[in-house]
Amino acid sequence: MTYTQHYSVLKKECIETLTEVQEESRDKFFYADLTFGGGGHSFALFHQNVKNQLVCFDQDPDALNNGRNRIEKENASSRIDLVDSNFRNFPTYIKEKRQDIIEQGGFDGILLDLGVSSHHFDKGERGFSFRSDAVLDMRMDVDNDDIMTAEYIVNNYSEIQLEKILREYGEEKFARRIAERIVEQRAVEPIKTTKQLEDLIFHCYPKKMRYDGINPATKSFQALRIEVNQELQVLEELLDQVLPLLRVGGRLAIISFHSLEDRITKVAFKNMTDGSIPCEQLTKKPIVPTKEEILENSRSRSAKLRILERIERKKSKNKYEHLKGN
Ligand SMILES: C[S@@+](CC[C@H](N)C(=O)[O-])C[C@H]1O[C@@H](n2cnc3c(N)ncnc32)[C@H](O)[C@@H]1O
Repeated sequence: MTYTQHYSVLKKECIETLTEVQEESRDKFFYADLTFGGGGHSFALFHQNVKNQLVCFDQDPDALNNGRNRIEKENASSRIDLVDSNFRNFPTYIKEKRQDIIEQGGFDGILLDLGVSSHHFDKGERGFSFRSDAVLDMRMDVDNDDIMTAEYIVNNYSEIQLEKILREYGEEKFARRIAERIVEQRAVEPIKTTKQLEDLIFHCYPKKMRYDGINPATKSFQALRIEVNQELQVLEELLDQVLPLLRVGGRLAIISFHSLEDRITKVAFKNMTDGSIPCEQLTKKPIVPTKEEILENSRSRSAKLRILERIERKKSKNKYEHLKGN
């Protein structure tokens, strides 16, 4: 199966904000797209200005293969460095392999478009979706055997651990019942496939809620995917280290798709603005997709874009501070 065409969410808004300030006197601008996916945002940056140089990360083999082909086709290899790695390794990669960017002042823009792509859901055998029957895998970095699969988690976590991830990462109100049923069922036979799990969850829902709105398995599948890929932990880890990599005037743009990611972004932005490197939030309220974008791509409806800028110095809270003591 070829890589599913991925619709890039809030593309115009991201590109505009990341490229708003480009001083003509400079001969290179540096951007990082840490969630390359189908490369929609990356290639928009690539085409925006011939001076743009990109470092891109992805951990999904399909995204990387597709990306490498596109880079070759568009003759982009001198300006796009596509790295096969989890973005938690981005700060180390830059320190070890791309000191040239730090020496030239750092990144003009860093983008994160979080979560999985439509490709993950469309490629049934990856086990992200209950729409097709497949082994419960859900690893983005599917070749990495050190990562626990969803199947391992479902068959090995304790009932308390399962309830906790379903409640915290899926905000699933029937977390306890589902965890209980999983433990009962796996004592009879292992739960191996998406359809087995979907069916089990379906029967944990009260009859009148089973056909009410979204599929009852949606939230639990989200929770498992987040746990498998440690999505929240790697985001926190990265946000703790990313600010020094931005140049003054550089921007960090984060698109999140659920409240857990958005909360982590909000807290991290607050910590950064209270920290020792001067920066400010450009979005007191997040930017959300227009009605037209939601009509074109319903997945964008939950997207929120937050932007932070590294600045020269913090604005004084007291504008008469300089007169103190006179
Ligand atoms: C929503 S898609 C990005 C789509 C992309 N912006 C585009 O326009 O095509 C997210 C991508 O980020 C990758 N990804 C998610 N978390 C990651 C992580 N921690 N490290 C590396 N890649 C990650 C996924 O494999 C997926 O391909």
